[in-house]
Amino acid sequence: PLPQAFSVPLPIPSVLAPVESGADEERYEIVQREVDAEILPGISTRLWTYDGSFPGPTIESQRGRHVTVAHRNELPVPTVVHLHGGRTPADSDGYPTDLVLPAGWTEPERSGGHGGHGMSDERAVVSDVEREYGFPLDQRATMLWYHDHRMDFTAPAIWRGLAGLHFVRDDVEDALDLPGGDHEVPLMIADRAFDADGQLAYPSLDSTLTGEIGVEEPYLAGVLGDVILVNGAPWPEYEVDTGLYRLRVLNGSNARHYELEAIADDGRRLLLVQIGADQGLLAAPVRHESLPIGPAERYDLLIDFGDLPVGAKVRLANRLGTGRCADVMQFKVVREGSGAPIPEMLADDLPEWDRSEAAVVRDFAFRAGRMDGRHGWLIDGLPFDPGRTDVTARHGDIEIWRLVADVHHPIHLHLVGFRVLTRGGGEPLPHDAGLKDTVSLRPGESAEIITRFDAYRGRFLFHCHNAEHEDMGMMANLEIL
Ligand code: C2O
Ligand code: CU
Repeated sequence: PLPQAFSVPLPIPSVLAPVESGADEERYEIVQREVDAEILPGISTRLWTYDGSFPGPTIESQRGRHVTVAHRNELPVPTVVHLHGGRTPADSDGYPTDLVLPAGWTEPERSGGHGGHGMSDERAVVSDVEREYGFPLDQRATMLWYHDHRMDFTAPAIWRGLAGLHFVRDDVEDALDLPGGDHEVPLMIADRAFDADGQLAYPSLDSTLTGEIGVEEPYLAGVLGDVILVNGAPWPEYEVDTGLYRLRVLNGSNARHYELEAIADDGRRLLLVQIGADQGLLAAPVRHESLPIGPAERYDLLIDFGDLPVGAKVRLANRLGTGRCADVMQFKVVREGSGAPIPEMLADDLPEWDRSEAAVVRDFAFRAGRMDGRHGWLIDGLPFDPGRTDVTARHGDIEIWRLVADVHHPIHLHLVGFRVLTRGGGEPLPHDAGLKDTVSLRPGESAEIITRFDAYRGRFLFHCHNAEHEDMGMMANLEIL
């Protein structure tokens, strides 16, 4: 029995307190463990969590303050933590075979036939039940997210609950005096499916999620749920006043794309004023009537409830959804508030790389194909292999990457932010503005992105962030020398 829409209050993930705070660093501890939680009213659902909740606890950081997060794995499976969008040295970036093992873990035998791609030569690099990840966070203010990244099992692990938010703040953002407190609202949107017992349903080939990779063949395109969760609650409601709100939106879904729009109950559409992208503030706001968001993308939005009477309701809807998946959540205006102006100048620290500065131009095709005798997803004809270097880039170089897709593929680069230069051979779309770390290619579409590999040296990843595509091969290694 699914709940009535907009009958559950929007939960706000709690902010994690550091266990230690130094002059310019913080230390956090997170225990990864199973819990039974109430997602659907009156029903208990088993989750894999960071510290007992889904989403996991939010981490709040200041640019340049070094953050250490010690993770302890009390789950029944190995895990890997990746801070998505983090400018993170390779040894803390959560490489898919850099595992945190549960106590007493022994690697299961992989049966032959389908599965086990790329695991033959290179055994998993294993560590113990505890692992410290170090994040310098020398990067622009934005909303990052942390999630599991284990090779072949990222999709089911995120599905079961291993995802949380991590904010970076800086002086540029602070100076703008943007809405804060309960007027700054994180929204992790993620669809899920439940079985008849109220447990999360995932069509995996391996119900124990330890041995063979992948999802059942009909779900190869990606696993969709029929329940839309925001911060872990189905179609929730958030009470607002008639003021200006800042929405920090993440599409934390495995495979579902949304096109968000805000519609008041009198039929009026409220503008979604975009002030930031995946990697922080734009130079100036971009106003949208509706806004597409692919898996792993984030938007920093302002929405003004000032023209609405107390009692009004505003539905955050998904134009791409049908039936109940056309709804995301609802805002209900419950009191008068004080308005605030929308700043027309935002950040002046956006990198502007010019095409003429590029040292290298590379092409990548993201397409379906065969791997190990079954269907998978390939980059330039190859499935992911942790033992192979796909791209070697020189530290400090500016590069242009030309990406082309067969179906929808949200392409994500670790370590760096990039600008979208062109889309479909023409100008980028309005929502491509700013500094991105994930660009959502539509079926048959190409895009050019430009970036500079000026952060750390070492081995990083790029991949499709449709989590099923990622697990089914669509990932590659980028070595920065
Ligand atoms: Cu959101 Cu490679 O990750
Ligand atoms: Cu994909």
